[in-house]
Amino acid sequence: MPLFHLSLLLLFTPLLSALTLPPQPSHLLRPYSHSDSTSLSSSSPQQYLDPTFPSLLLPSTPPDFSLPLLSHSFAYTYNLPPFTSPYSPPSSPWSRAVLCLSVSCAGEQYDRIAAVWLDRVELLRTSTAEPTEAGVFWSVRKEVTRYKSLLNNPPNGTIAVMLENIVDDTFTGVYHVNLSLDFYLSEGDESRESKKPADLIIPIAEEKADTGFWFRIHNGSHMRFAQFGIPSNTFRAVLEIFVSFHGNDEFWYTNPPDSYIKKNNLTTGRGNGAFREFFVIVDGHYAGSIVPFPVVFTGGINPLWWAPVVALGAFNLPTYTLELTPFLGILLDRKSHEIGIGVTDGISFWLIDANLHIWLDPNSDLTTAKVVNQAKETSISRDYSSQLLNGTFEIKAERKSYFSGWVNSSFGNLTTYVSNKIEFNSLVNFTNNGKDKFVLMNANQNRLVKISGDGGISLETYDSKYPIQVITKTVPGENDTFTLITSLSHSLYEEHHCESGNEVHASYLIDRQEADGWMLAQDHSVLSGSASTWQTYEYGDEDSVYSRVVQVKDGVILSDNVTDGSGLRHFSW
Ligand SMILES: *[C@@H]1O[C@H](CO)[C@@H](O)[C@H](O)[C@H]1NC(C)=O
Ligand SMILES: *[C@@H]1O[C@H](CO)[C@@H](O)[C@H](O)[C@H]1NC(C)=O
Ligand SMILES: *[C@@H]1O[C@H](CO)[C@@H](O)[C@H](O)[C@H]1NC(C)=O
Ligand SMILES: *[C@@H]1O[C@H](CO)[C@@H](O)[C@H](O)[C@H]1NC(C)=O
Ligand SMILES: *[C@@H]1O[C@H](CO)[C@@H](O)[C@H](O)[C@H]1NC(C)=O
Ligand SMILES: *[C@@H]1O[C@H](CO)[C@@H](O)[C@H](O)[C@H]1NC(C)=O
Ligand SMILES: *[C@@H]1O[C@H](CO)[C@@H](O)[C@H](O)[C@H]1NC(C)=O
Ligand SMILES: *[C@@H]1O[C@H](CO)[C@@H](O)[C@H](O)[C@H]1NC(C)=O
Ligand SMILES: *[C@@H]1O[C@H](CO)[C@@H](O)[C@H](O)[C@H]1NC(C)=O
Ligand SMILES: *[C@@H]1O[C@H](CO)[C@@H](O)[C@H](O)[C@H]1NC(C)=O
Repeated sequence: MPLFHLSLLLLFTPLLSALTLPPQPSHLLRPYSHSDSTSLSSSSPQQYLDPTFPSLLLPSTPPDFSLPLLSHSFAYTYNLPPFTSPYSPPSSPWSRAVLCLSVSCAGEQYDRIAAVWLDRVELLRTSTAEPTEAGVFWSVRKEVTRYKSLLNNPPNGTIAVMLENIVDDTFTGVYHVNLSLDFYLSEGDESRESKKPADLIIPIAEEKADTGFWFRIHNGSHMRFAQFGIPSNTFRAVLEIFVSFHGNDEFWYTNPPDSYIKKNNLTTGRGNGAFREFFVIVDGHYAGSIVPFPVVFTGGINPLWWAPVVALGAFNLPTYTLELTPFLGILLDRKSHEIGIGVTDGISFWLIDANLHIWLDPNSDLTTAKVVNQAKETSISRDYSSQLLNGTFEIKAERKSYFSGWVNSSFGNLTTYVSNKIEFNSLVNFTNNGKDKFVLMNANQNRLVKISGDGGISLETYDSKYPIQVITKTVPGENDTFTLITSLSHSLYEEHHCESGNEVHASYLIDRQEADGWMLAQDHSVLSGSASTWQTYEYGDEDSVYSRVVQVKDGVILSDNVTDGSGLRHFSW
C-alpha cells in the first residue's frame, strides 16, 4: 500500500457503521470536482505555504551561486526505490548553503511523505500538499550548512529523493519536483547554525535504497540498528534524528487503548493508547528519548484547513538532537559499534533515520574519553475508564536522564554533562457514544548540555513544548454521509539559550495554529464544508523580533501581517 493510502482505508470501514464506531481522523480528499460547494478552487495555480521561515534566519540576498541537483516528475512511484541523480560538490569555497525544493502538482491526489538524502545522509523530511484541479505549488528552503563536510566531500556522490505516489484514473496528481542548492560566500546575515559544522557525518540508515534509506519500524518491540565506527581523534558526537509516523500511528496522540477497541468489538488498528516516544540505544546503553512533535499532514483531521497554509512543520518536519559526546568513552576504540532506534508503544509504521555528526581534533590523532555517569528515571501512569463507547483515557509520563563523560583532546580535558527531561500528559475523552472526541496532549522537553574544563564552562539549554488539542463531533447523515465538526489548537514553543565565557545568545519561537470548521464527507471525499485557520509565528533573539499572522478562510488568505522589530521582547510561557 502507498504511504497515505493505508490510513485512508481504515477510516471508512468504521464510518459505515458510524453508530457503533468512533470515527478516527484520517486522510481525506478535499473537494475537487465539487467546485461550487466551496471557494477552494480557482482557475490559476495557487501558492501554498508554511509561514515559518523569517528572512532573518535564512539569507535574504540572492545566492552567490546555485547548484541544480535534480528535476523529476513523481507519477507512479509506488514500490520503486528513490529517484537518484549524481552529485558533484561545488568547486568554490562557501560559508552557507540552503537546500531549495520546489514542487508543483495539479489534479486529484493524496498527501505524500518525501525525503532527500545525500549518500544516505538525510537532508530534508517533507510532505506534500493535496493538489487542486487548477494546481498548487510551493517551495521549501532549509539551511544545510551543518552538512558542509558532506556537501564538499561526498563519499559516493548520489542525491536520492523518495516520494511514493500513485497515479491512476482517479488519482491524477503528478508531483513535479526541482531540487537545488544555494551557496553563499560570506556569512552575511547571522546564521542560526553559527557553530562550526561537523567534520564527518555518518548515516544511521538503511544500507540499500530499495524502499528508501529510512528505517521502517512496525511495532514497539521492533528496533532497527546500524553499525558504524568513528575516527580515533573524535572529540564531539551529536545525533540528529528524522521521524515521521504513518498508517495506524499517524494520529497516535488520539489513539484509544486496545482494551477499549476489544471491549467494543471494533476493527480499527488505531490503538495502543496515546503515548509514543522514540529512543536511541548506543551499544546497548540507553542514550535518550524524545516525544515527537505531532505534525499533521495536509489530508489530516480536516483537509479544508490546510489550503493554502499547511500545518506546522508539514513542509519541513522538525528534526531532533541527542548529544552523544558522553558516550565517546565507549566508542573511541577503533572498533565497530551499534546505534539502535525504536518507538515505545509504536504501531505500524514509523519512518526514522539519523545522522551522526562527528567533530575531529585537528591537532591530534588520538583523543581519550571515559563515560563517568549514566542514570535514568522513568514513571508512566495510565488511567483508563470506559462505558461501552464512552471512555476517558489519561496518560502521564515523565522521563529524566543524565549522562556525563570526559574527553581529552588538544582542547584540554573537557567534561560533558547532558540532561534530558520529558513531561508528557495526554487526555483522550470519548463521549456521546464515541461520536464526540476530545484530545489534549502536551509534551514538555528540556535539554541541557554543559561542557566544563580548565578553560571554563559553556552551557546550552533547549526547552520546548507542544500542546495539541483536537475536538471532533460526528453527525451521521443519510446515504453514508457524515458531518464532522472539528477544531484544532496546535502550538510549538521553543526557547534556546547558550552561554560560553562572556558570550550569551538567547532566542525563542512561538508557532501556533487555531483552526475550526465543518465538512460533509462521503466515502473517501469531502463534499462540502467551511474552515478557517489562524496562524501566528513569532521568533525573537537579542537583536530582533519577527512576527507573522496569517488568517485564512476557505482557501483564501484574508490577511497576512508581518512585523519586524528590534530588541528582545519579554517572553515567558
Ligand atoms: C522546475 O524547473 C523548470 C526549469 O527551470 C521549470 O520550468 C519548472 O517550472 C520548475 N518546476 C517547479 C515545480 O518549480
Ligand atoms: C553510490 O553511487 C552509485 C553510482 O552512482 C549509485 O548507483 C549508488 O546508488 C550510490 N549509493 C548510495 C548509497 O547512494
Ligand atoms: C514487530 O515487527 C517485526 C517486524 O515487522 C516483526 O518481525 C515482529 O514479529 C513484530 N512483533 C510483534 C510483537 O508484533
Ligand atoms: C462483542 O462480541 C462478543 C462476542 O460476539 C459479544 O458477546 C459482546 O456482547 C460484544 N460486545 C459489544 C460491546 O458489542
Ligand atoms: C590529553 O591530550 C593531549 C592532546 O592530545 C595530550 O598531549 C595529552 O598527553 C593528553 N593527556 C593525557 C593525560 O592523556
Ligand atoms: C579528565 O578529567 C577527569 C575529571 O576531571 C579526570 O577524572 C580524568 O582523569 C581526566 N583525564 C585525563 C586524561 O586527564
Ligand atoms: C470528558 O467529557 C465529559 C463530557 O464533556 C466531561 O463531563 C468529563 O469531565 C470529561 N472528562 C475529563 C477527564 O475531562
Ligand atoms: C455515553 O455518554 C452519553 C453522553 O455523552 C450518554 O448519553 C450515554 O448514555 C452514554 N453511554 C453509556 C453506555 O454510558
Ligand atoms: C439518498 O440516496 C437516495 C437514492 O439515491 C436519494 O433518493 C436520496 O435523496 C438521498 N438522500 C440524500 C439526503 O441525499
Ligand atoms: C492585519 O492588519 C490589519 C491592518 O492593520 C488589521 O486590520 C488586521 O486585523 C490584522 N490581521 C491580523 C490577523 O492580525
